Amino acid sequence: MQYTSWVPLLPEQASTFAWQVDLLYFYLIVVSVAFSIPIVAAIFFFIFKYREREKYATPDELHGSIVLETTWSIIPFVVSMTIFLGGAYVYFNQYTTPKDGMEIYVVGKQWMWKLQHSTGQREINELHIPVNTTVKLTMTTEDVLHDFFIPAFRTKADIVPGRYTYLWFNATKAGKYHLFCAEYCGLNHSGMGGWVYVMEQKDFDNWLAGNTSGQTPVELGKDLFMNKLGCASCHAGGPQQRGAKLEGIYGKEVKLTGGGTVIADDQYIRNSILNPASQIVEGYQPIMPTFKGQVTDEQLNGLVAYIKSLSGVTGGSTGTTGTASSSANMASNSATSPPTNTMTPSRADRGNSGAGSNPNAPKTSSSNR
Ligand code: CUA
Repeated sequence: MQYTSWVPLLPEQASTFAWQVDLLYFYLIVVSVAFSIPIVAAIFFFIFKYREREKYATPDELHGSIVLETTWSIIPFVVSMTIFLGGAYVYFNQYTTPKDGMEIYVVGKQWMWKLQHSTGQREINELHIPVNTTVKLTMTTEDVLHDFFIPAFRTKADIVPGRYTYLWFNATKAGKYHLFCAEYCGLNHSGMGGWVYVMEQKDFDNWLAGNTSGQTPVELGKDLFMNKLGCASCHAGGPQQRGAKLEGIYGKEVKLTGGGTVIADDQYIRNSILNPASQIVEGYQPIMPTFKGQVTDEQLNGLVAYIKSLSGVTGGSTGTTGTASSSANMASNSATSPPTNTMTPSRADRGNSGAGSNPNAPKTSSSNR
């Protein structure tokens, strides 16, 4: 394994799979060059060799050559299969999320990245992580399509409205690396970037300790579940229980009313909060109201994290109890924002007439917080 980029023009190699991507890329370049040069050379050779020497001459007929045809079938077959196998290996390695790892929540919005550690620390357009540690990102967007891209790690993933996407990496070298949005998402797309700071474990621990943690996602979720949203009135155990039991549900197969099953993963929990009627657990009535428009993506992350924790799934340590002020802010914000705020067309388009000239001018009161 090697971590310094030996392919010119490419950024530093700073993750465990960077060298694999570069190797594959280098192989593609070699193959392209190895085919292009002989083809261009042959073109010029044949132009000269078979130039018209005599008007309307009839050339001799050729009746094929088994050797030649076999050769030009086998070589491209081998070449294309090695590209396919190499690509498949790299792809599955990158997009198969490991079971354990440090969990980070990412919320994209026009035009910034909001990140939160499972210990509660929040960051904007910056991500601090320890070196040689598997880091898992759980990502959503508040508005339009974005794409989380760290060139030095050779990895990226689209973040699609209404669903979770995951990304993982293991940084191999301490340093400061660019972070980009790699999907055109409106006027300030090009400015939607930041830095990833890869630190030695000791430095990272110091950094973590030096930042107010606030509520962890699990604590935020628990607070919403127990108090602010009142989920507990139906979902907690006891004689009052009218909603599905949530303890131990995460990762399990759930039977649905009307047949069919679903795995209770992040996406299922999110969907059950936003569209409760779409997937009713067998044996329960469709009485749950939708929480669409009442919870932000960060709050959804918290709820999902809390429900995961009920099944003993924690994304790293659940740290100290912090102040509730940040969540109180978020709750009051979400209460005042209209349900349609996440996808108002005025935010996605270029703006009309004069309004589009200043991207930072608040277009609607609800969209900026
Ligand atoms: Cu977000 Cu481009």
